[in-house]
Amino acid sequence: MKYNKTIILKNGKECCLRNGIESDGQAVFENFNLTHMQTDYLLSYPDENSFDVTQESRFLKEKSESENEIEIIAMVDNVVVGTAGIEAVGTKYKVRHRAEFGISVAKEFWGIGIGRALMDACIECARDAGYMQLELNVVTENVRAISMYERAGFTEYGRNPRGFNSRKTGFQEVIYMRLEL
Ligand SMILES: CC(C)(COP(=O)(O)OP(=O)(O)OC[C@H]1O[C@@H](n2cnc3c(N)ncnc32)[C@H](O)[C@@H]1OP(=O)(O)O)[C@@H](O)C(=O)NCCC(=O)NCCS
Repeated sequence: MKYNKTIILKNGKECCLRNGIESDGQAVFENFNLTHMQTDYLLSYPDENSFDVTQESRFLKEKSESENEIEIIAMVDNVVVGTAGIEAVGTKYKVRHRAEFGISVAKEFWGIGIGRALMDACIECARDAGYMQLELNVVTENVRAISMYERAGFTEYGRNPRGFNSRKTGFQEVIYMRLEL
């Protein structure tokens, strides 16, 4: 899938949203480690990153060539400040209509419209790819993300009181949300 769009952020700066490609591997790897250190609301810790730079580059290459999955990066002043993507839940007929959504933006860039733009881009791509439902998990305390998801039309369909076990705070309740496309 292909995506390329330039937007103006709330601070007046330009932000380019486009496919992450093979040559972005190093920058995306660094952004992953940064964002996963800055918040306790994501699935993994930086030391659990299952990719090295080479694997990250290969992952981005595969996504940029995929017909139904994508990894979109947000660039400000030529620096990767956020990423978001959609992945198929499975290839079997019964689940082929479902995709999963994930997103993270570097903290320094929160609140100026990047998250919203990345999410809208992924929703557009999910529709174009023919999915009928987009899904995500979010920690209950992550009010910023939840309000963003609700504004886009995502609704809750369940909770897991012990969804995550944080190294810092212990169990975190996880909310399951879905958007019909
Ligand atoms: C969640 C996240 C992606 C939002 O990105 P962002 O760039 O700050 O988002 P935006 O500036 O586009 O704001 C999006 C929405 O967030 C909400 N929001 C923004 N600031 C907020 C605040 N201070 N308090 C509560 N909600 C807020 C609003 O609903 C806003 O929509 P609006 O601009 O239409 O009013 C970002 O905070 C992040 O990466 N967090 C850490 C990783 C994470 O939690 N990922 C999601 C895991 S499920």
